[in-house]
Amino acid sequence: MIEFKDLRKSFGDKVVLDGVSHVMETGKTNLIIGTSGSGKTVLQKCLVGLFEPDEGEIIYDGVSFTDMTEDDRKLLRQQIGMLFQGSALFDSMTVEDNIKFPLDMFTNDSNSQKIKRVNEVLERVNLKDANKKFPAEISGGMKNASV
Ligand SMILES: Nc1ncnc2c1ncn2[C@@H]1O[C@H](COP(=O)(O)OP(=O)(O)O)[C@@H](O)[C@H]1O
Ligand SMILES: [Mg+2]
Repeated sequence: MIEFKDLRKSFGDKVVLDGVSHVMETGKTNLIIGTSGSGKTVLQKCLVGLFEPDEGEIIYDGVSFTDMTEDDRKLLRQQIGMLFQGSALFDSMTVEDNIKFPLDMFTNDSNSQKIKRVNEVLERVNLKDANKKFPAEISGGMKNASV
């Protein structure tokens, strides 16, 4: 369960989140709907810690994300997937290295284990032969599948 209470976030004079509260219950699909520029992405970035809210609290399963150390946040983030609007792949890295990046960061797996995992996920999204391609060499849909 993700709960947020009275979140506030401004950029200079521009108030984007003006006291937003909600409980996202486990097992339910929760949607954030709003017009373009209304603050959906800013809210999402606050929820994963890419932005710090100016005020308010974020709570994951009863534990305050707001008060968590960066190390505890890293552990929690291993359970969070975030798909960016513009796919957010590293342009200078191949598809294989992009997918391997979080495994390099968060696991002690051997390289062959990591490559096996990369191949499994690529096969699952029908991108079996895309390992050595760079993001500029694949289509928009392929980029999103690779994230
Ligand atoms: N890093 C930033 N610096 C300044 N303003 C920002 C930043 N990120 C978002 N904003 C502003 O916050 C508002 C909400 O943006 P956003 O959350 O991206 O909207 P959307 O609901 O379309 O996802 C917009 O006015 C945007 O310009
Ligand atoms: Mg957005």
